[in-house]
Formats: sequence, C-alpha cells, structure tokens
Amino acid sequence: MTAQIIDGRAVAARMKQELAAQVCEMKQRHDGLTPGLAVVLVGEDPASQVYVRNKKLACESVGFRSTSHTLPAATTQDELLALIAQLNADPMVNGILVQLPLPSAINEQMVINAIDPLKDVDGFHPVNIGCQSIGLASLAPCTPSGCMILIEEVEKDLSGKKALVVGRSNIVGKPMASMLLKANCTVTMAHSRTRNLPEECAQADIIIAALGRPAFLRGAWIKEGAIVIDVGINRVTNEETGKSQLVGDVAFDEALPHVGAITPVPGGVGPMTIACLMQNTLKATKMQNGWA
Ligand code: GUN
Repeated sequence: MTAQIIDGRAVAARMKQELAAQVCEMKQRHDGLTPGLAVVLVGEDPASQVYVRNKKLACESVGFRSTSHTLPAATTQDELLALIAQLNADPMVNGILVQLPLPSAINEQMVINAIDPLKDVDGFHPVNIGCQSIGLASLAPCTPSGCMILIEEVEKDLSGKKALVVGRSNIVGKPMASMLLKANCTVTMAHSRTRNLPEECAQADIIIAALGRPAFLRGAWIKEGAIVIDVGINRVTNEETGKSQLVGDVAFDEALPHVGAITPVPGGVGPMTIACLMQNTLKATKMQNGWA
C-alpha cells in the first residue's frame, strides 16, 4: 500500500493564508481592529522558548499584534496571576497564552482558571473544556483541533470509524476523544494502564498517538490502511549519527508500509497547533465583539 504522508506544514500554511485574508477584511471593516495575542513565558526552558518564538512569528504572518511577557523562573504565582488580571482587563489583548509547563512552584490549574474564558485561546479553561465536551460554542484546544483537520484532509466521513486515542492528557487525549465522538467515531482511549495495546491498535481505523514516548507504537500493531496521527515531539539522539533529532510517538519507518495515511514528525501536527492558535485568536476577537 502506498501511504499518504499528511503534510501539516502545507495545511497550516493554507489556513494561515485564509486567516490573513480575514484579518485584512476585519481591519478594513472595523476601523483597523487588529486581533492581539499576549504570550507569557515563565523561565528559560529552551523548548518553550522555541515554541513561543514560533507563535510570535505566526502572529506576524497573519497580521495580528503580539506582545511577549517573559518572566524569570523565580516569578511567584501571585505575580503571574497579577499579570493575567492585567491582560484580562486590557482591551488590546484578545488572546492570552501562558506557555506550559510552568515552574513547579506555580499551580498550573490556578493560572489557567484565572484566564478570562473568552481570551483562553489555548482552550484549556474548565469553562471551554466543558462547553467543548457538550458541543457548545467555545475556544477548543489547538492540538486536537489541528489533528481533526488533518484527519479530515484524508477522510471526510468519519461516521462509525473506530478511533483509538493513546494518551489521556487534559490538553490532547481527552479533548481529542470528545472531538472524534462528535464526528461520530467509536472511540477507545488507551493509556499507560491499558492491557494489550497492540490488540487495541489492530482494531483501529484511526490512531492518535499522544503519549509522549519516542517511537513507542510499533508498525506491526497497525491495521492495514489506518490513518495515524502522531502528536509526539520527542528529542532523541540518533544512534548511528550521534546527532539530536525529533521523533514522534510512532515508529514512522515501520508504520509506513501498513498505514493508509500518516503525519510526519516534524511537519505534521506541530504546525497545525500554531495555525489553530491563530484561528482561535481570530475567533476570540469576534466573540469579544459579539460577532461569533
Ligand atoms: N506547552 C506544550 N504545548 C502547549 C500548548 O499547546 N499551549 C501552551 N500554552 N503550552 C504548551
């Protein structure tokens, strides 16, 4: 079987082009109104610094304003909560993104809870999670939204398909399952305590791998023709070259002969997360103005 490699970079570029056009139109129609994203980074985690830089670049590419708030690792929870209160109250800020993980002295959930749900462009606030899970208008988490778009690139009708979500995090696994359910899939969730994961994989028409372990899902487990979406971004050292490289949660080369379609790492889900963040920021701006 010839597998389709789903090009997340191309789909994300198309989305950002469409968003840029909508932003232009918004500016013309509404006296220069420009969506604004505030990005908050606490500490100096190198991976987070890269993600934040990419988010800022994406803002520029679609015509948003973006502001960065880089705080030292020793920032207290109260200091961070004070910044969030200030951003909640700022009419120039339509979206607030606090890059995770936060230093261990700060309670992440308390920080997420403090963000105005209408500005919660990550879709992590309990109000948005609740609304999304019962199908009400909300800002939905970006990575699972991006995965849904990539799945629909290769399969429009998901009704009755067996979907397996491997990983039960609040930011990917759980919302992913509820989006697949909304698309009428029969959804199974697997996690670290699941017995016989290969057997679960063998039944699945769609597999979402989001467990954060390099090349954990083996090619031989995958049903012939399945759609495989790899959310993992793991930095490992290549044993042959000694160089550092990014790999997903799926053993890509092994999986390729079995799958119908698969996302690569890098260049699959990653760019989609950022494109969906831009989409959420535009949606948040419309919601705050009563247009959505
Ligand atoms: N850290 C890793 N992924 C994400 C994300 O999607 N949003 C935020 N805020 N932090 C992250």
